[in-house]
Amino acid sequence: MCGVVGYVGDRDCTDVLVDALSKLEYRGYDSAGIAVFEHGTIKVDKCKGRLSNLVEKMAEEGKPDGHCGIGHTRWATHGEPSDINSHPHGNKRVTIVHNGIIENYKQIKDFLITEGYSFVSETDTETVAKLLDYYYNGDPMETIARVLAEIKGSYALGIMFRDFPDRIFAVRKDSPLIVGVGENENFLASDVPAIIHYTRDYYLLEQNEIAIVKKDGVRIYDVHKNEIHKELNTADWDVDAAEKGGYEHFMLKEIHEQPTSVKTTITPRIAEHMPDFTAEGLTKEELKSYKNIFIVACGTAMHAGMVGKYVIEKIARIPVIVDIASEFRYRDPIIGENDLMIVISQSGETADTKAAMEMAKNAGATTLAIVNVKGSSIAREADKVIYTHAGPEISVASTKAYMVQVSIMYLLAFEIAYANGKLTKEQCEEYTTMLEEIPEVIEESIALKEKCQFLASRLINADSLLYIGRGLDYALSMEGSLKLKEISYIHSESYAAGELKHGTISLITEQMPVIAVATQHDLVEKTISNIKEVKARGAMVILVCDQDVDIEDGVADEIIKLPHADQLLMPMVAAAPLQLIAYYTSVLRGNDVDKPRNLAKSVTVE
Ligand code: F6R
Repeated sequence: MCGVVGYVGDRDCTDVLVDALSKLEYRGYDSAGIAVFEHGTIKVDKCKGRLSNLVEKMAEEGKPDGHCGIGHTRWATHGEPSDINSHPHGNKRVTIVHNGIIENYKQIKDFLITEGYSFVSETDTETVAKLLDYYYNGDPMETIARVLAEIKGSYALGIMFRDFPDRIFAVRKDSPLIVGVGENENFLASDVPAIIHYTRDYYLLEQNEIAIVKKDGVRIYDVHKNEIHKELNTADWDVDAAEKGGYEHFMLKEIHEQPTSVKTTITPRIAEHMPDFTAEGLTKEELKSYKNIFIVACGTAMHAGMVGKYVIEKIARIPVIVDIASEFRYRDPIIGENDLMIVISQSGETADTKAAMEMAKNAGATTLAIVNVKGSSIAREADKVIYTHAGPEISVASTKAYMVQVSIMYLLAFEIAYANGKLTKEQCEEYTTMLEEIPEVIEESIALKEKCQFLASRLINADSLLYIGRGLDYALSMEGSLKLKEISYIHSESYAAGELKHGTISLITEQMPVIAVATQHDLVEKTISNIKEVKARGAMVILVCDQDVDIEDGVADEIIKLPHADQLLMPMVAAAPLQLIAYYTSVLRGNDVDKPRNLAKSVTVE
């Protein structure tokens, strides 16, 4: 949700800001804008739409020429996407960019209007800019501290004061912000990919720390002007990780990265073919002590949690409640001291997931976060963290992050089952070894991409379609369906196959394709019966199943046979073909695969 960048150094500031913003467009692409000091004044350029619109505009009208500035890519919350609502906001004295939401902006705005201020945009951000102007007394630090004491909500702010043309100021609360440290140049960004071309070293700003970023150095203070000496972090990502590397889209690249991402994620958590989470501080004694396990997340991450629920309950025999974070937090859940809350999040910044985790913490539960982005808010606030090592996921539609989340769910399930005596050491070793071998099987399933491309060609004219499955296949079909609808814009639902007859089957016509996922041997016969029911009513059926399952001729119109793995692990094998079907459907429909409309990668608003 919105990307913030900043630069101070010898390079052409506009070029750096545009380049950095191009790496953050996944955070929103409703508008883009920059503000640069040009001969002592703040020059702003901004417009609605993609960053490319801004670049075109500046090519025609001339770009700001300077060495110090801030930039923004927007996911609209307050006010529609428009030139006026685009960031930066402010006036000639103070100009800002903002990621987050100011909850009490209305009161502040009303107050400032009585003080003679007028507003041009509908944004909450403009009120912060004008409040900074209102309190400005020649001392930026004091001014920022006064404003922080008044605003409520979440923010990552990049701030320029006209009187200080050699520096930018930055502060955050509940929205991420890092300060990149280079040689004689320094940066500001919402996320590491924006700066990785220039430097790997960065500071993670903590809540309400204020950074002063100048060409020759960065200083960080608390709101009382006490200087804070922080540890420098080093990004271990490959520079190419934030590039497409020859693939047409990030999504395709990220689908292909899955075998490696899984290997990199599970290897450090396996010792002699047994799960080992000691580095994360998770002991067997602790894992077997929980009465209930809650898994809470949003979207794709929640679907990874659904797989986790099936697997943990099946082999560890502990009740697992999976919940959508935005539901969990408002349903007064029964959770307490003897419970474990697992939250799953790629970004580690999802507002609802974070709030649900805080609730669980307050209720006395232990919180364990499975997170991809190091140092993110959820990772910092959880009692324990397991980092997935997928590297940066740029495509808005999540693929490799899902796969690694699922791989951790398996390892945890094995560890819990072994800890509470439901698996013997031999059985646990056997499962873990199978998981170690799964990257090669995923590789084989990605090799089915031509078939997936063909299947996509059979779906592109549908207005609506259905995914069905049972058990683990139902959990998986939820993810297949979400992936398809979010990037192809074809309406799609997933249904527990056995539930069809209770209403949904009335939707089935020749115009409604059905994708049936049937990788679970003990349930396949039942799912086949459901396939027959929809086929009898005219649906075109695509069956996704294990190559070892015997399927009689004519059961489905199209069959995609997956490479074999133990049926417990089949979700990891079937996920890639489902992602590829969604990917090619989107490509064939001419959509912007990596940046589907109305979406943003990191959802920091509830
Ligand atoms: C869909 C997708 C989203 C995210 C969800 C949670 O492809 O990516 O559904 O899974 O917004 O995001 P994180 O994992 O960052 O908490």
